[in-house]
Amino acid sequence: MEIRKMNVVVVLVLTSIGVIQANTFHFPDNFSFGVATAAYQIEGGWNKSGKGENIWDRITHKRPEWVKDGKNADIACDSYHLWKIDVQLLKQLGVDFYRFSLSWSRILPTGFSEYINWNGVRYYSDFIDELLANDIRPVVTLYHWDLPQPLQDLGGWPNLLIASYFEDYAKVAFQLFGDRVKTWITINEPNEICDTGYGTGAAAPGIEESGTLDYLCGKTVLIAHAKAYHLYDKYYRNKQKGEIGITIVSRWNEPKTNSTRDKEAAERTMQMQFGWWAHPIFSTKGDYPLVMKERIRNMSQCQNLEESRLPKFTTNEIEYIKGSSDFMGLNHYSTWLITDDSENNCTIVSYENDMGMKNVQDPSWIPSAASWLKDVPWGFRKLLQWIKVEYDNPLIHITENGFADVGELHDTGRIHYHRGYLNELLNAIHLDGCKIKSYALWSLMDNMEWQDGYTLKFGLYYVNFSDPLRTRTPKSSANFYKELIRLRRIPR
Ligand code: NOJ
Repeated sequence: MEIRKMNVVVVLVLTSIGVIQANTFHFPDNFSFGVATAAYQIEGGWNKSGKGENIWDRITHKRPEWVKDGKNADIACDSYHLWKIDVQLLKQLGVDFYRFSLSWSRILPTGFSEYINWNGVRYYSDFIDELLANDIRPVVTLYHWDLPQPLQDLGGWPNLLIASYFEDYAKVAFQLFGDRVKTWITINEPNEICDTGYGTGAAAPGIEESGTLDYLCGKTVLIAHAKAYHLYDKYYRNKQKGEIGITIVSRWNEPKTNSTRDKEAAERTMQMQFGWWAHPIFSTKGDYPLVMKERIRNMSQCQNLEESRLPKFTTNEIEYIKGSSDFMGLNHYSTWLITDDSENNCTIVSYENDMGMKNVQDPSWIPSAASWLKDVPWGFRKLLQWIKVEYDNPLIHITENGFADVGELHDTGRIHYHRGYLNELLNAIHLDGCKIKSYALWSLMDNMEWQDGYTLKFGLYYVNFSDPLRTRTPKSSANFYKELIRLRRIPR
């Protein structure tokens, strides 16, 4: 009798372990899969049917040599004309949603909401209808780096006024598309907008004022985001019943050695790259991370400046920004090793220098075609664990994750990357208890990779850019992702 009882117990235990194991291989039932793109990178039609000029049009036309291959996105994937084909590609993949962005200057050619380009509105409206008719949820980013040029002529993001113009633009978008769009992302990767656009100059508008203009830009972007959030929350949420948040990019920064200095430097880097944006919105205290305020204040003092180069938030602004996101949109690509370099020369004014660290990637890590992107899946899980602790387990949408190659159709590097990263994502959900609700793979198809032009490819679909029809061909990774979505686990 006793032995039989024990057997039952053993069987029950084993079964439950089996169940647990089976579940840990699967994505939860309410988890959704998608792919992502951005307007400037795919649409083309740069001056078609009333679209205005944006900062990427301007810089690629004025300084073609600034782009690696001298090319621009005047036509890109021509999604302005081929959008119905794009929906068919999405349908073939079986995705639940499509993350794409609206081009501000296609809807408001001058940047201001007084004048609406109805051709642009019709384009997005038809596109959204077509997605819904095919059971694909639109996830819409309002701003993916393409500021209308007239707003740049006013100084661009470092000018606080842009926050109000962004709010006006958001209002137009909510009014016109909010009946059908239920997930809004206000701004994509503020770090790139500010650090790269107004700091290193490696993104439009290509201004190199690191350590000053990038911080001013940061303040405007955070306020702009919060304005759009509150607008939606107050006037649209009840009726439209959607969610709205921001997308922040983050590397995982791992200390290169076990020394306290390197560990502190890695933590400081997390705070000054990711926390710069996440802390004001997602922490209980709000405002910039303490270590960021201290570092920049000390550096500014040592530079004999009367005030910190980091613009302050008023108490009201801190409260206004705090909590202004229904979810955390997270873009993640790779991992870096950090060593401390905080006793550096304070005569240098730059955001990089303010962080006081050096970063490298391990030469043994699997490379991609992009110098900054190595295949390091464990870093993804560590990042998710860090976020869980730092911001009290927020609800996360992975809004981008992707791998760069030079365009192989049999893209085994991409499949390897996504296998590893999605496996770590499963671990983060099932073993660490992170609240991750969706995953968007970057990208649906090869496209214009900003300053790298068409030299780097991230697509599940190959796009023939020499063909006027811009034919799209599925790569091996498209079949892999399709199978993954169908099975709701990583195919063997
Ligand atoms: C992040 C950006 O949001 C996207 O536009 C870009 O193409 C990918 N990273 C790859 O670099």
